[in-house]
This record gives sequence, structure tokens and C-alpha cells, in this order.
Amino acid sequence: MFALLAIVSTAVTGFMDPASSKYTSAALSHRHPRTHLVGNHGLGGFLQAMTLPLFWEIVDRSVGYNVCDVALTKLSPRNRENFHKLTAYDLGCGIGRFSVALARQNVKSIKAIDASEMMLSFAKMLTYPHKIKYLQENVVDAVIDKCDLVVASFLMHELPPSGHRLLLENALRKLKSGGQMLVVDADPDNTVLSRAVIDTMEPFFDEYQASFVDTCKELSRIHKCHYAYEKIDEGRCVVWILTKF
Ligand SMILES: C[S@@+](CC[C@H](N)C(=O)[O-])C[C@H]1O[C@@H](n2cnc3c(N)ncnc32)[C@H](O)[C@@H]1O
Repeated sequence: MFALLAIVSTAVTGFMDPASSKYTSAALSHRHPRTHLVGNHGLGGFLQAMTLPLFWEIVDRSVGYNVCDVALTKLSPRNRENFHKLTAYDLGCGIGRFSVALARQNVKSIKAIDASEMMLSFAKMLTYPHKIKYLQENVVDAVIDKCDLVVASFLMHELPPSGHRLLLENALRKLKSGGQMLVVDADPDNTVLSRAVIDTMEPFFDEYQASFVDTCKELSRIHKCHYAYEKIDEGRCVVWILTKF
């Protein structure tokens, strides 16, 4: 009850005074106030975080799979057989959906990072707090320690190209040899999101579509990672699998 009251009061304060948080859109050069229309912060963030569990439940049932579980099957056999030894980061974790998938696989340690206090508040209420450490930071310059696994799901399309570069630089240089990064996101050959939705809610989607593949290939090369890309669901959802040599 106290947790819920704290969330509501943060939401209302953030809504009335968006500058009250250093994580608001205005303060984050790599975010945009129009992202998801209602935003990820303040009252808009509260509404979005509250409805996300239902949203994902509906999506999973309609497509017939959980995208996090499918993405994890793309890891190398060595990593899949040793989940219990892996140290992992979930970047742009939202309400902790991918972190929960990692916790279900018994991953050794999970640090989940998001800029939105609302998403993190709901994540803490909904997930396995003993397994997952939640941190409120901007993913493009968050401190990432040496690790075995980095996941970023449905984050890249919310960042401008400069954010893609900074984030990939930051994550890929911290992967141990054999470590992997999974990037799950909308298919750049999108056939699902309408023009109206993109124009209203996804300010960086066009740039993501146009440049992310090339950026990802380039930074994989620079950081000595094997680059692989698979369509999970044609037109809808893809996964990049970057493996450090
Ligand atoms: C579409 S949601 C995806 C959440 C989650 N990964 C999932 O798959 O359900 C994108 C998340 O990225 C976060 N985000 C966007 N830009 C960010 C940034 N620069 N730093 C940290 N988090 C960011 C948002 O707050 C939001 O929770």
C-alpha cells in the first residue's frame, strides 16, 4: 500500500513539475518528450507502466510466444548451459520483463537499468527483487562492469542514432570473451506500426530503421564481436546477437 502511494505521489509530482527529476526528457539528451505519447515519466509514465503488464500479456497471447524467451534460445550453447554463472544487464528494462525471463533461467546476477522512476517502481513491485538489482540511470552513459550478457529489448527504437552508438560502445566493450549482447526490437522492415503511430509516438523510429543495422555492424567490427541478425517474426520483431570473440 505504501509502495503504491509512493508511486502515485512521484507520478503526480513529476507530472506537475517535469523538471523535478534529473531523468525527465528535458534532461536526457538521448530521449524525446514524444516517446510513447504519454512518455515514460511522471503521470504519463505511471499510466504506461501500469498498463504494460496487460499490454504484454495481450501481445504474448496474440503472437503465441514470449519474445524474451525466444531471444534467449539464440544464445550460444555455452551460455545457455551456464545461465547460473552469467552476470547480466537488462538495459531500458521497463517493468522488468526481460529481467524476469533471465531470473527464470537462474542467471547469477541481473542489473536492470532504466531512466524512468515509474517503470522501475512497477518493476520492483512486480518482479523478483532478490535476484534483480534495479538502477535509475540513462543507458547511454550508465556504468557497466565486465559481464557475460547484455540485453536491450525494445529500447533502440526509442533512441536517436547518437544514442545507439554510445550504448553499443558502452556495452560491447564490457563483454567478456564469449559474452553476448541480445538486442530485441521492432523489425526495421516494419509492417506492423502504422505511419500515424510512428508520427505520433515514435520520434526516432525512422532513424532507427534507416541506420541501426549499419551502426550495429560497424561497432561489432570495432569491438571484435561476431554479428548475427535474425527475424523472430517477419515485419514485427527481430533480434541481433553480438558475440565477443
Ligand atoms: C518500450 S520500453 C521497453 C521496456 C522493456 N525492455 C520491455 O521489453 O518490456 C523502453 C524502455 O526504455 C527506457 N528508456 C528509453 N530511453 C532510455 C534512456 N536513455 N536511458 C534509460 N532508459 C531509457 C524507457 O524508460 C522504457 O522503460
